[in-house]
Amino acid sequence: MSEKFLKPGEARCPGVSVQDLLDQDSRPVPVYLREQSYEFLGDEDIPYERYTSKDYFDKEVEHVWPRTWQWTCREEHIPESGDYYVYDVGPYSVIVMRTENGAINAYRNSCMHRGTKLKPSFSSGWSESIRCPYHGWDWHLDGSIKSLPCEWDFPHVDKDEIALSSVACDVWGGFVFINLEAEPVPLLEYLHPLPAHIESKVFEERYVAQHIQKELNCNWKIASEAFLEAYHVMETHSQLSRTNGDANTQYDFYGDHISRLINVAGIPSTFCEEEQTEQQILDMFLVGDRDDVADELVVPEGGTARQVMAEQFRQGIKRSGQDISEVSDSEIVDSIAYFVFPNQQFFSGVSFPIVYRFRPLGMSHDKALFDLILLKSRPPGEAVEPAEPVRLKVEESYTTVPGMDPYVGHVFDQDTGNMQAAQEGAATAGKSGATLANYQEIRVRHFHQTLTRYMEQAL
Ligand code: FES
Ligand SMILES: [Fe+2]
Repeated sequence: MSEKFLKPGEARCPGVSVQDLLDQDSRPVPVYLREQSYEFLGDEDIPYERYTSKDYFDKEVEHVWPRTWQWTCREEHIPESGDYYVYDVGPYSVIVMRTENGAINAYRNSCMHRGTKLKPSFSSGWSESIRCPYHGWDWHLDGSIKSLPCEWDFPHVDKDEIALSSVACDVWGGFVFINLEAEPVPLLEYLHPLPAHIESKVFEERYVAQHIQKELNCNWKIASEAFLEAYHVMETHSQLSRTNGDANTQYDFYGDHISRLINVAGIPSTFCEEEQTEQQILDMFLVGDRDDVADELVVPEGGTARQVMAEQFRQGIKRSGQDISEVSDSEIVDSIAYFVFPNQQFFSGVSFPIVYRFRPLGMSHDKALFDLILLKSRPPGEAVEPAEPVRLKVEESYTTVPGMDPYVGHVFDQDTGNMQAAQEGAATAGKSGATLANYQEIRVRHFHQTLTRYMEQAL
């Protein structure tokens, strides 16, 4: 069909589509990857005020952060009774605690006496009880009061009413989520259809092998949105153009809270002008410090780089005792990323299982913290120590983090390198808002439409 007869949002990048590639997969592809869930959501600009206004930020603090599910830590961060992890977002601070009976509880990080923060922000560790450092009020791990010094002076205090203020808490995929709302929608309902697409055990069977926290000079949404589309890949990561189908990425959204992208690896970008053989594509895949990939791989006659790479990962994982022989090429080599409103993104791919989280740093509208977690397979039943977070300042490179693949670190430097400029440019713009692509930036628009509903208290 000629483009002039297309309705808004119907145009697609020329060339092979994600669904075309899935047709060529060497294994049956699960139904969830065959779904397409896009519709045109309008084309008006997104006001820059959403990034530059402290007032807008303050309203998000009031209407978004206390009413949405956010992952705080992994179960393996708090394996034993008394282990705790503090999650901070804006002014809110929550203690996630493993209790005596093995359950996980969450509490507002605030003393019931005069409100003192009970544990330092961003801390984790073990304690026998939860004791306030100011006057020594002390709670059992289940949140009930244990002791109150000079109890004779508090005849007016009912002990049941000074239990720690509990916060809704639930677990999916080994991630411990909290929601500060008194009676939130159940977590699984909020995450729908993610749990139907990706089995919880896909994430449960992994552990935190690397955790990097990067400080950013931008609004938290600018940071998050940099990972909602692959439209930027051709310019920001031009080195990937020979092996990444950037403009052919598939975008989907579901309900209010979930969106997805499927970004295919192993095909050249439509912006790549040189003809690429499958062998050249495969060789490009091997760039970087990847010790799980053999040095010399050959694409057989009639085969594809995608198939060879997928098989390579299947064999590598088999050597470590797991069998993924039935898993499709796409689930191994492609980036399949699920965004969960407001600030988290889960990559389900076997070869590069990462998770992102974005949050404001303190009460600044133009300071954010980007958590990047790399998960690795955990031998079933074995306890593993999660990696400690490494904190990077704005100017520090991902490539300086011990254990970071320099090739991958460079890609994250490129992404985060745009963010301050995006923030500062928004503040000096000669127009009122950001203009979005109808298809490739639909997840950004979907995110903003949900944000609007929270801000208007329609959700
Ligand atoms: S403020 Fe916590 S015991 Fe006094
Ligand atoms: Fe990027």
